[in-house]
This record gives sequence, structure tokens and C-alpha cells, in this order.
Amino acid sequence: MLLHQSTWIEIGQFLDRSRTVVIPIGSNEQHGPTGLLGTDWMCPEIIAHQAQKDADILIGPTFNIGMAQHHLGFPGTISLRPSTFIAAIGDWTRSLAAHGFEKILFLNGHGGNIATIEAAFSELYAEASFARRPAGFALKLCNWWDLEGVGELARAQFPTGHGTHATPSEIAITQWAYPDSIKTADYSPRIAPAGPIREAQDFRARHPDGRMGSDPALATPEKGGELVALAAKGLVAAVHAFSGEAMPD
Ligand code: NI
Repeated sequence: MLLHQSTWIEIGQFLDRSRTVVIPIGSNEQHGPTGLLGTDWMCPEIIAHQAQKDADILIGPTFNIGMAQHHLGFPGTISLRPSTFIAAIGDWTRSLAAHGFEKILFLNGHGGNIATIEAAFSELYAEASFARRPAGFALKLCNWWDLEGVGELARAQFPTGHGTHATPSEIAITQWAYPDSIKTADYSPRIAPAGPIREAQDFRARHPDGRMGSDPALATPEKGGELVALAAKGLVAAVHAFSGEAMPD
């Protein structure tokens, strides 16, 4: 079930049978010479939308701008600074919690978001801790590549040249979902260099075409479809496990 394609009446009825919602969260940032700028929000959205076809789970709107300051040297990247990101995650969570959602699972598609999402969770929990009251909600971060079996499948599909940014696995997922937007480009070296992540100018100097350790030409729509099917199954299992966790009175 997709929240944005539901009425308030349908969401009210959903709350009678479940208090869990999934929020795909990512980033709009350069993904090398062949990757779409939306890759990091499209992947969790594609997986979550696929998962709800076979299970009674609720998927919220995609939070599609994240912490991508290091990619700002490339046209099209849009970034929230960590403090803005924390504030926005807070208000999304407070809105959902006000309606009675008790379990909010953020399905993340961008490694650069992890530290800030975890900090946002701590800010939200701290409000309850300082007031000596229960939060009334539990928050969970799942990276799509950590869903059950997905890392193993990606390593089998791409034994070399996977890398950490503009990876063939994430690009394969967007190719499967958006076959009309598959891009090609000449690039070298075949496998991009790895390196530290600092500010945007430093990043662009180290990674001139935007890739980090990857060879995105290894991506195919078929491999993307395999990853989506497995990840969607893993997401349903993660949602059910999270929903089953007891909340204190
Ligand atoms: Ni990415």
C-alpha cells in the first residue's frame, strides 16, 4: 500500500491493523558518468514499491534529498546539510507518530546518510529521555544492501569492480525499473580509484568522473531485477520482525 496513493480514510483503516510504516530515504547526487542522479532514492523506492505488491505493508513518500555535500562539485546534486536533514527527519517522524505510527522503518539508499539518520534518531529519542516519558515510537534504519541475502548476491554478481559509489548493483536496479533511461559512456580506468570523502572540491579531484572503486558497465537490468526481488523479500521480513517487537506500555 502506498501512502501517497491512499486516502486519509484508508490510512486510518490501515492503522487499525498495523502501526508500522516504511519511508524510502536517499539522496539526489551524481552517480558517475552513467548513473542517474536519482539512483540513491530510486533504489529504496523501487524495492519498497515492489515489496508492497505482495504484502500488506505501508510505504510512505520517498525522502529523496539527503546528505550529499561531497557530491556538490557535480551538476545536479542537491544536498541538505546534516542539521537540516536532522530537522526534516524529525518533523516527518513527529507527523507520523502523531497519527499513531509506532514503528517507522527508514529504507536507506545512500551511505552518506547513515551518520545523520542515526543522529536524527538520537535527537528524537532525547526529547523523550529528557522529559522522562516514553517516546511512543521506535525507529529503524535499514540500508537496502544490508537486507537479507542482498550483499551475498551482489558479491556473486560483481566479484570485481563493485566499489562503493556508482556501483553496478545500484545502477542495475535503476536499469531494471527504468529501462528507457539506461546510459552508456566511455570512461577510464575501468575500475575507478577508491579514496577518502571530504569536501566537494577534494572529492572531484580524487574522483574526476564521480565513481568510487566501481565499474558500472557491469550492470544489467536482469541483475537489477534479481536484486530487487531478493531485497523486496528481505524488506517484508524486516518489516514483520520490526512490527513484532514489543513496545513498553
Ligand atoms: Ni549510490
